[in-house]
Amino acid sequence: MTTALEFTQQLSEHPKSAEERAAILANPGFGNHFTDHTVVVDYKVDVDGNGGWSNARLEPYGPIMLDPSAAVLHYGQEIFEGMKAYKHADGTVWTFRPEENAKRMNLSARRLALPELPEETFLESLRRLVAVDKEWVPTGEGDALYLRPFMIATEAFLGVRPAREVSFRVIASPAGNYFGGELQPVSIWLSENYARAGRGGTGEAKCGGNYAASLAPQLEAEAQGCKQVLFLDPFNDNAVEELGGMNIFFVFADGRLVTPELNGNILRGVTRSSVIQLAKDRGLDVQERKITIDEWRAGVESGEITEVFACGTAAVITPIGELKTQHGSIASPGSGAGEVSMSIRKQLLGIQTGTVEDTYGWMTRLA
Ligand code: COI
Repeated sequence: MTTALEFTQQLSEHPKSAEERAAILANPGFGNHFTDHTVVVDYKVDVDGNGGWSNARLEPYGPIMLDPSAAVLHYGQEIFEGMKAYKHADGTVWTFRPEENAKRMNLSARRLALPELPEETFLESLRRLVAVDKEWVPTGEGDALYLRPFMIATEAFLGVRPAREVSFRVIASPAGNYFGGELQPVSIWLSENYARAGRGGTGEAKCGGNYAASLAPQLEAEAQGCKQVLFLDPFNDNAVEELGGMNIFFVFADGRLVTPELNGNILRGVTRSSVIQLAKDRGLDVQERKITIDEWRAGVESGEITEVFACGTAAVITPIGELKTQHGSIASPGSGAGEVSMSIRKQLLGIQTGTVEDTYGWMTRLA
């Protein structure tokens, strides 16, 4: 039996002032600002080859001291998670299905040859951080405190093997709409020159490398005036896989909701699985299956596909407008945000923010 780690706590001597914090919370953007504290837990393999987690601590937010030869800087041995904390009307702070993120991080850890973190330590890290940085949870419509747990290989060693020293950390960042401004349909660029994942690769893991690989195609997307890039599997009839940082869904006029099946290449989105559950419970025929770019094009042309949306922790549910490609575009299926997408979004955000009853038991109180 493993005993839960004891946490120590050192509070920041220089937290941001209440005025500075209020100015940030009034207009948080995404990923620009960070709270006053961070959580760190160390992992080390001893001379006998036994690894263990220790030294769990809450400390002031600040730069990390790393040896220049630390493995993460050379071989990208890194994984992360993304989740959000919401302040409810009574001032309590909650997060959404954190045990799913804890489990997924351990799946990612296995793929990246990093150590698994006990789920209880993952959850306690979130509680510790939010307990002291509770004032940082924004309350604006659609805003939340974005929590970013991550694990990096810190061992100073240039040989290519799993690092024997690792650090798990959590930082937090007040966040508004991922795409900035008001929610509106985003246009997407189809990446035909690059793939995000290949069979047996790291597509299913939430590792930094997957996102690094999406940046060159993301630049192409931006040059085309698009907000996100879409990846296909060119060896599987151009099956739709996922966007640079989110999963994708298609709403059909006859009540079907289709999303690419988990095939090892696609991220096991917590929002994805929640949308599937909510949609099934409202009577939609949810199909996790292969959907090709040709089916997308034909479905929009015939009117069979009525809405397309992206989903993820950061994106929540964001309607997709036009899909631009090198050979013309697939028009937006509707004139704006679709009814089904927006209704599921409203229910999901309602559960998360405490205005809709959480009949699923998805919310966990953090503070
Ligand atoms: C998330 O939705 O949490 C993500 O990880 C997407 C992106 C911000 C990397």
